Amino acid sequence: MINRGPILAIETSCDDTCAAVVENGKIRSNVISSQAAAHAGFGGVVPEVAARHHLELAGPVVEAALAEAGTTPADLEAVAVTTGPGLIGALLVGISTAKALAWSWQLPLIEVDHLHGHVAANFLEPDPLEPPFLCLVASGGHTQLAAVTGYDGYELLGQTLDDAAGEALDKAARMLDLGYPGGPVIQRIAADGDPEAFDFPVGMRGSDSLNFSFSGLKTSLLYTIRDLGDEETEKRKPDLAASYQHAVVEQLTGRLERALDSRAGGEDWPAVALGGGVAANRPLRERVREICDRRGLEMKLVPMQLCTDNAAMIAAAAAYLPVTPLPDYLPVEAAT
Ligand code: KG4
Ligand code: ZN
Repeated sequence: MINRGPILAIETSCDDTCAAVVENGKIRSNVISSQAAAHAGFGGVVPEVAARHHLELAGPVVEAALAEAGTTPADLEAVAVTTGPGLIGALLVGISTAKALAWSWQLPLIEVDHLHGHVAANFLEPDPLEPPFLCLVASGGHTQLAAVTGYDGYELLGQTLDDAAGEALDKAARMLDLGYPGGPVIQRIAADGDPEAFDFPVGMRGSDSLNFSFSGLKTSLLYTIRDLGDEETEKRKPDLAASYQHAVVEQLTGRLERALDSRAGGEDWPAVALGGGVAANRPLRERVREICDRRGLEMKLVPMQLCTDNAAMIAAAAAYLPVTPLPDYLPVEAAT
């Protein structure tokens, strides 16, 4: 670890306003202010609404993170911030806050890639996972497979070509009139349904790539609902939810297995880590557990508050990244 002292990290790439203090891999505070309620009525995150909420919440969330950690700015080694990818207006609020605080405290800044943060959540105490490992991150904003061979970065093996896995679940829930966010409610309703009742397409099944695609699945649900009609759709919601969820899980785990089969050099990946909000999905966890058990691999699942967006993971990545001294970071912009 190159930055061992306390790092204050700020994360505002989507709809959670987050700040955390992490010291030498240990979380001293991890404050997350969720805006989910502000976006629920829209069936998804509204970028402008997210940016305005971040503006109101960033100051109090940083104060809470420092207070909970029992840290003063004078104790800090650096300020870290997510610079992308994410919603441009949302990122700008976090970056401006981080630059202003770092400047006023005369501290260096560390720029962190959001997906590196999801990978680095696995480095945190009390049960840190050492590279190498394969990391599947699936959330409302991203779906990616990362090869992690060191602490300071990752190699992107595959990513979604259209919707993210969580977004596909959120859009399905909207089509089925189930509310937002879609993943948890689809999982709940699917428990009473048959995952094989409808033969929804598993995206990219015939392709050799490690990328993902969920748009065909979404369109297939749309046509199925149209063909069934309102009354039948209502009656068959559990089957529709179970079959749709099954197609999502099949695609995620199919790519994961392909990545496990194709590690360069023919060596096995010793461990698989899951991240992102979709990692909460029980059928997904069960399938990944089955794959890991069959292959004799370690399966790592960080606690849920570290799977979803948070700033502790950003600080965890920052610990291994170069610092930018004052005033060199003043021109830093969002990298979307
Ligand atoms: O990581 P996250 O909290 O926020 C970002 O998108 O970055 O992920 C939220 C996503 C939503 O799309 C939500 O529907 C999905 O994670 N999700 C789930 C479950 N819980 C949350 N998807 C499937 N099963 C769940 N139990
Ligand atoms: Zn994320």
